[in-house]
Amino acid sequence: MNKERKLIIAGNWKMNKTVAESCDLVADLKRELAHLTSVDMVICPPFTALADVSKIVQGTNLWLGAQNVSEHPYGAFTGEIATGQLRELLVHYVILGHSERRQFQRESDELVSKKAKTAHQASLIPIVCVGETLAERESGKTEEVVGTQIKNSLTGLTNEEMQETIVAYEPVWAIGTGRTATSQQAQEVHAFIRSRLAEQFGETVAKLVRIQYGGSVKPANASELMSQVDVDGALVGGASLDANSFVEIIKNTV
Ligand code: PGA
Repeated sequence: MNKERKLIIAGNWKMNKTVAESCDLVADLKRELAHLTSVDMVICPPFTALADVSKIVQGTNLWLGAQNVSEHPYGAFTGEIATGQLRELLVHYVILGHSERRQFQRESDELVSKKAKTAHQASLIPIVCVGETLAERESGKTEEVVGTQIKNSLTGLTNEEMQETIVAYEPVWAIGTGRTATSQQAQEVHAFIRSRLAEQFGETVAKLVRIQYGGSVKPANASELMSQVDVDGALVGGASLDANSFVEIIKNTV
Protein backbone atom coordinates (compact mmCIF):
# COMPACT_ATOMS: atom_id res chain seq x y z
CA MET A 1 0.00 0.00 0.00
CA ASN A 2 1.41 3.34 -1.05
CA LYS A 3 0.74 5.81 1.75
CA GLU A 4 1.77 9.35 2.59
CA ARG A 5 2.70 8.26 6.12
CA LYS A 6 4.18 4.90 7.09
CA LEU A 7 1.48 2.61 8.45
CA ILE A 8 1.65 1.64 12.10
CA ILE A 9 -0.26 -1.43 13.28
CA ALA A 10 -0.42 -2.21 16.98
CA GLY A 11 -1.83 -5.18 18.86
CA ASN A 12 -3.47 -4.38 22.17
CA TRP A 13 -3.67 -7.62 24.10
CA LYS A 14 -5.53 -5.98 26.99
CA MET A 15 -5.79 -8.18 30.13
CA ASN A 16 -5.17 -11.42 28.26
CA LYS A 17 -2.37 -14.00 28.13
CA THR A 18 -0.11 -15.47 30.77
CA VAL A 19 3.63 -14.97 30.41
CA ALA A 20 3.97 -18.39 28.77
CA GLU A 21 1.11 -17.70 26.34
CA SER A 22 2.56 -14.29 25.54
CA CYS A 23 5.94 -15.81 24.71
CA ASP A 24 4.31 -18.40 22.44
CA LEU A 25 2.29 -15.78 20.61
CA VAL A 26 5.22 -13.44 20.12
CA ALA A 27 7.44 -16.28 18.91
CA ASP A 28 4.85 -17.02 16.20
CA LEU A 29 4.66 -13.33 15.25
CA LYS A 30 8.43 -13.10 15.13
CA ARG A 31 8.66 -16.03 12.73
CA GLU A 32 6.23 -14.38 10.31
CA LEU A 33 6.95 -10.68 10.73
CA ALA A 34 10.47 -10.08 12.04
CA HIS A 35 11.82 -9.13 8.62
CA LEU A 36 9.02 -6.76 7.54
CA THR A 37 10.06 -3.12 7.24
CA SER A 38 7.25 -1.54 5.23
CA VAL A 39 4.93 -1.23 8.25
CA ASP A 40 5.71 -0.25 11.84
CA MET A 41 4.50 -3.10 14.07
CA VAL A 42 3.88 -2.77 17.80
CA ILE A 43 2.76 -5.39 20.29
CA CYS A 44 1.32 -4.38 23.65
CA PRO A 45 1.23 -7.37 26.02
CA PRO A 46 0.17 -7.08 29.67
CA PHE A 47 2.78 -5.61 32.06
CA THR A 48 3.55 -9.03 33.52
CA ALA A 49 4.80 -10.31 30.16
CA LEU A 50 6.80 -7.26 29.03
CA ALA A 51 10.18 -8.42 30.35
CA ASP A 52 10.05 -11.83 28.68
CA VAL A 53 8.51 -10.59 25.44
CA SER A 54 11.11 -7.83 25.28
CA LYS A 55 13.90 -10.42 25.11
CA ILE A 56 12.15 -12.24 22.25
CA VAL A 57 11.64 -9.16 20.07
CA GLN A 58 15.11 -7.67 20.47
CA GLY A 59 16.79 -7.30 17.08
CA THR A 60 13.52 -7.68 15.14
CA ASN A 61 11.20 -5.12 13.58
CA LEU A 62 8.58 -5.74 16.25
CA TRP A 63 8.36 -2.84 18.70
CA LEU A 64 7.14 -3.21 22.23
CA GLY A 65 4.33 -1.14 23.73
CA ALA A 66 2.69 -0.94 27.16
CA GLN A 67 -1.02 -0.40 27.79
CA ASN A 68 -0.72 2.39 30.37
CA VAL A 69 1.82 4.38 32.38
CA SER A 70 1.79 6.64 35.43
CA GLU A 71 1.77 10.40 34.95
CA HIS A 72 4.45 10.59 37.66
CA PRO A 73 8.06 9.75 36.85
CA TYR A 74 8.62 7.76 40.12
CA GLY A 75 7.61 7.72 43.77
CA ALA A 76 4.97 6.61 46.24
CA PHE A 77 2.18 5.55 43.85
CA THR A 78 1.22 2.03 44.84
CA GLY A 79 0.27 -0.18 41.94
CA GLU A 80 1.46 2.23 39.26
CA ILE A 81 4.20 1.69 36.67
CA ALA A 82 6.69 4.42 35.75
CA THR A 83 8.06 5.43 32.37
CA GLY A 84 11.61 4.58 33.45
CA GLN A 85 10.55 1.07 34.41
CA LEU A 86 9.12 0.60 30.91
CA ARG A 87 12.20 2.06 29.24
CA GLU A 88 14.36 -0.36 31.18
CA LEU A 89 12.48 -3.17 29.37
CA LEU A 90 13.05 -1.45 26.01
CA VAL A 91 9.40 -0.47 25.67
CA HIS A 92 8.97 2.22 22.97
CA TYR A 93 5.23 2.93 22.85
CA VAL A 94 2.46 3.33 25.39
CA ILE A 95 -1.31 3.29 24.83
CA LEU A 96 -2.97 6.16 26.70
CA GLY A 97 -6.59 7.09 27.30
CA HIS A 98 -8.05 3.89 25.92
CA SER A 99 -11.84 4.05 26.22
CA GLU A 100 -11.77 1.15 28.68
CA ARG A 101 -9.52 3.21 30.98
CA ARG A 102 -11.60 6.33 30.44
CA GLN A 103 -14.73 4.33 31.33
CA PHE A 104 -13.57 1.96 34.09
CA GLN A 105 -10.70 3.96 35.62
CA ARG A 106 -12.31 7.35 35.09
CA GLU A 107 -9.32 8.69 33.18
CA SER A 108 -9.90 12.26 32.08
CA ASP A 109 -8.47 14.15 29.12
CA GLU A 110 -6.40 16.15 31.60
CA LEU A 111 -4.85 12.99 33.04
CA VAL A 112 -4.19 11.61 29.57
CA SER A 113 -2.39 14.82 28.59
CA LYS A 114 -0.20 14.61 31.71
CA LYS A 115 0.64 11.00 30.91
CA ALA A 116 1.45 11.90 27.30
CA LYS A 117 3.85 14.60 28.50
CA THR A 118 5.50 12.26 31.02
CA ALA A 119 5.83 9.61 28.31
CA HIS A 120 7.57 11.98 25.92
CA GLN A 121 9.92 13.16 28.63
CA ALA A 122 11.10 9.54 28.89
CA SER A 123 11.26 9.08 25.09
CA LEU A 124 8.20 6.82 25.07
CA ILE A 125 5.81 7.42 22.17
CA PRO A 126 2.21 7.75 23.30
CA ILE A 127 -0.67 6.23 21.34
CA VAL A 128 -3.49 8.54 22.46
CA CYS A 129 -6.98 7.08 22.02
CA VAL A 130 -10.13 9.06 21.35
CA GLY A 131 -13.62 8.07 20.25
CA GLU A 132 -17.32 8.61 20.75
CA THR A 133 -19.96 6.28 22.24
CA LEU A 134 -22.93 5.04 20.25
CA ALA A 135 -25.28 7.47 22.02
CA GLU A 136 -22.94 10.35 21.18
CA ARG A 137 -22.76 9.32 17.51
CA GLU A 138 -26.51 8.87 17.24
CA SER A 139 -27.13 12.30 18.72
CA GLY A 140 -24.77 13.91 16.20
CA LYS A 141 -22.07 14.68 18.76
CA THR A 142 -19.13 12.78 17.26
CA GLU A 143 -17.13 15.85 16.24
CA GLU A 144 -17.88 17.69 19.46
CA VAL A 145 -16.75 14.73 21.60
CA VAL A 146 -13.69 13.77 19.55
CA GLY A 147 -12.73 17.43 19.08
CA THR A 148 -12.75 18.01 22.85
CA GLN A 149 -10.76 14.83 23.51
CA ILE A 150 -8.16 15.83 20.92
CA LYS A 151 -7.82 19.36 22.27
CA ASN A 152 -7.61 18.42 25.94
CA SER A 153 -5.72 15.11 25.76
CA LEU A 154 -2.86 16.59 23.73
CA THR A 155 -2.59 19.96 25.39
CA GLY A 156 0.88 20.85 26.60
CA LEU A 157 2.73 18.84 23.96
CA THR A 158 5.32 20.69 21.90
CA ASN A 159 5.16 20.49 18.11
CA GLU A 160 8.12 18.09 18.15
CA GLU A 161 6.34 15.84 20.65
CA MET A 162 3.07 15.99 18.75
CA GLN A 163 4.51 14.97 15.42
CA GLU A 164 5.85 11.78 17.03
CA THR A 165 2.61 11.06 18.89
CA ILE A 166 0.22 8.47 17.47
CA VAL A 167 -3.51 9.17 17.68
CA ALA A 168 -5.94 6.25 17.66
CA TYR A 169 -9.54 6.89 16.65
CA GLU A 170 -11.56 4.16 18.30
CA PRO A 171 -15.33 4.57 18.20
CA VAL A 172 -16.44 3.00 21.48
CA TRP A 173 -19.38 1.29 19.76
CA ALA A 174 -16.97 -0.61 17.51
CA ILE A 175 -14.64 -1.93 20.22
CA GLY A 176 -15.02 -5.65 20.81
CA THR A 177 -18.50 -5.58 19.30
CA GLY A 178 -17.75 -6.94 15.84
CA ARG A 179 -19.32 -3.74 14.53
CA THR A 180 -16.71 -1.81 12.53
CA ALA A 181 -16.98 1.75 11.33
CA THR A 182 -17.25 1.81 7.55
CA SER A 183 -14.10 3.02 5.85
CA GLN A 184 -15.98 6.20 4.96
CA GLN A 185 -17.06 6.82 8.57
CA ALA A 186 -13.46 6.26 9.69
CA GLN A 187 -12.03 8.54 7.00
CA GLU A 188 -14.46 11.35 7.91
CA VAL A 189 -13.43 11.37 11.56
CA HIS A 190 -9.72 10.93 10.76
CA ALA A 191 -9.84 13.93 8.42
CA PHE A 192 -11.65 15.90 11.14
CA ILE A 193 -8.97 14.94 13.69
CA ARG A 194 -6.23 16.03 11.31
CA SER A 195 -7.94 19.39 10.75
CA ARG A 196 -8.12 19.92 14.52
CA LEU A 197 -4.45 18.98 14.87
CA ALA A 198 -3.66 21.56 12.19
CA GLU A 199 -5.49 24.26 14.19
CA GLN A 200 -3.70 23.27 17.38
CA PHE A 201 -0.20 22.46 16.11
CA GLY A 202 -0.04 23.76 12.53
CA GLU A 203 -0.37 22.12 9.11
CA THR A 204 3.14 20.70 8.98
CA VAL A 205 2.75 18.80 12.23
CA ALA A 206 -0.78 17.65 11.37
CA LYS A 207 0.45 16.14 8.11
CA LEU A 208 3.06 14.07 9.93
CA VAL A 209 0.86 12.65 12.70
CA ARG A 210 -0.19 9.06 12.17
CA ILE A 211 -3.82 8.33 13.05
CA GLN A 212 -4.76 4.70 13.64
CA TYR A 213 -8.26 3.30 13.42
CA GLY A 214 -9.36 0.85 16.11
CA GLY A 215 -12.56 -1.11 16.70
CA SER A 216 -13.16 -4.68 15.47
CA VAL A 217 -10.33 -4.55 12.93
CA LYS A 218 -9.86 -7.99 11.39
CA PRO A 219 -8.22 -9.49 8.31
CA ALA A 220 -11.39 -9.00 6.26
CA ASN A 221 -11.69 -5.24 6.80
CA ALA A 222 -8.15 -4.05 7.60
CA SER A 223 -6.85 -3.17 4.16
CA GLU A 224 -10.05 -1.37 3.11
CA LEU A 225 -9.86 0.78 6.26
CA MET A 226 -6.17 1.50 5.86
CA SER A 227 -6.53 2.40 2.19
CA GLN A 228 -8.30 5.59 3.30
CA VAL A 229 -6.09 8.62 2.89
CA ASP A 230 -6.13 9.69 6.56
CA VAL A 231 -6.10 6.20 8.10
CA ASP A 232 -2.46 5.48 8.88
CA GLY A 233 -2.72 2.15 10.63
CA ALA A 234 -4.75 0.16 13.11
CA LEU A 235 -5.00 -0.53 16.81
CA VAL A 236 -6.15 -4.13 16.98
CA GLY A 237 -7.66 -5.75 20.07
CA GLY A 238 -9.31 -9.16 19.75
CA ALA A 239 -7.74 -10.08 16.42
CA SER A 240 -4.24 -9.44 17.80
CA LEU A 241 -4.61 -12.33 20.27
CA ASP A 242 -4.34 -14.84 17.47
CA ALA A 243 -1.06 -14.98 15.54
CA ASN A 244 -2.67 -15.91 12.22
CA SER A 245 -5.18 -13.08 12.22
CA PHE A 246 -2.68 -10.42 13.34
CA VAL A 247 -0.17 -11.58 10.73
CA GLU A 248 -2.87 -11.56 8.06
CA ILE A 249 -3.95 -8.03 8.98
CA ILE A 250 -0.37 -6.87 8.54
CA LYS A 251 0.33 -8.85 5.40
CA ASN A 252 -2.89 -7.56 3.80
CA THR A 253 -1.44 -4.06 3.89
CA VAL A 254 1.91 -4.82 2.31
P1 PGA B 1 -11.09 -4.70 19.24
O1 PGA B 1 -10.37 -3.70 20.26
O2 PGA B 1 -10.21 -4.83 18.03
O3 PGA B 1 -11.23 -5.99 20.00
O4 PGA B 1 -12.41 -4.09 18.88
C1 PGA B 1 -9.70 -2.55 19.80
C2 PGA B 1 -9.13 -1.80 20.97
O5 PGA B 1 -9.79 -1.73 22.01
O6 PGA B 1 -8.01 -1.25 20.91
